[in-house]
Amino acid sequence: MQPPSTLNAPALDAAQLMADDMQQVDGVIHRRLASDVAMINQIAHYIISAGGKRIRPMLVLLFSGALGFAGRERFELAATVEFIHTATLLHDDVVDESALRRGRQTANALFGNAASVLVGDFVYSRAFQMMVSVNNMRVLEVLADATNVIAEGEVLQLMNMHDPDLAVDDYLRVIRYKTAKLFEASARIGAVLADAEPHVEESCADYGRSLGTAFQLVDDLLDYEGSTAQLGKNVGDDLREGKPTLPLLIAMERGTAEERELIRHAIKHGEIARLPEIVAIVRETGALAATRDAARAEADKARQSLAVLGPSACREALLELCVRSVERSS
Ligand code: IPE
Ligand code: IPE
Ligand code: MG
Ligand code: MG
Repeated sequence: MQPPSTLNAPALDAAQLMADDMQQVDGVIHRRLASDVAMINQIAHYIISAGGKRIRPMLVLLFSGALGFAGRERFELAATVEFIHTATLLHDDVVDESALRRGRQTANALFGNAASVLVGDFVYSRAFQMMVSVNNMRVLEVLADATNVIAEGEVLQLMNMHDPDLAVDDYLRVIRYKTAKLFEASARIGAVLADAEPHVEESCADYGRSLGTAFQLVDDLLDYEGSTAQLGKNVGDDLREGKPTLPLLIAMERGTAEERELIRHAIKHGEIARLPEIVAIVRETGALAATRDAARAEADKARQSLAVLGPSACREALLELCVRSVERSS
């Protein structure tokens, strides 16, 4: 047990607090990845063994823990949300033509697009086998809805590519769908397992949605101000793909006519050659700071949603995740 935290105590780190439970989750992940098909084993292990921050499974564990649920289903479902996440990454890197993920060559770069898409389908459908195994219709409903919305988000984003006139609300809808929805579902699953009251479940879901939104806002700003080495992903990818993300939308609003035209052109043509100039513009117009402020506001909403939980080490760790998601550089 962790000692109760005080104002002076160091913030409780979710990964440390959950280290033993996450080992159990890792065990499930490795058992459940197994297939008789050699290429599935090879590619699935390739991406899973590269690690990742494992935030979504942590949310399942932290919310079920904060609400007093200690059954083993939590390990199965924590692994399930990580599988859904992994499948979306395998597909996303094909769609985005990305070459680097978790500090390694992407699966599509190494094994090809066809293999990545098909193994992504394997991981997705394995996640469904796992969620069925816990025999809880509500869990199925939450995760089936989440995967469906993620797919909608990725397609919406595809439709928005190369559109410099995208409205901020339409951008926000994409990130709520493609990213925040799985955070929301992960948090909600913790509450569903604990059989929480409906209003408690909604607050947990609100936390996940706000945290996920903050997380993706920061991801989008790190694409301009982050470092490839720290992120384990290539910075500048969003511009190369002509993605109108919030840093660019704000910079176009605030910049001079000439700056605006440069960014519009880069979005329309997915032009990376002038990335350094565009990085300077997003910085100098305050667009990066404004994006971080927007993330901070979302993280603050997440923090407020935790008022519904009684004091516990899990709740402290959830509070700390709000700070970390905004201040992160990897
Ligand atoms: C990457 O998610 C995709 C986004 C939603 C930005 P993570 O940053 O959680 O990826 P890993 O699992 O830690 O690699
Ligand atoms: C991540 O989206 C994929 C999903 C959330 C489905 P991005 O394309 O924005 O994230 P990275 O930069 O590849 O991790
Ligand atoms: Mg991507
Ligand atoms: Mg993408």
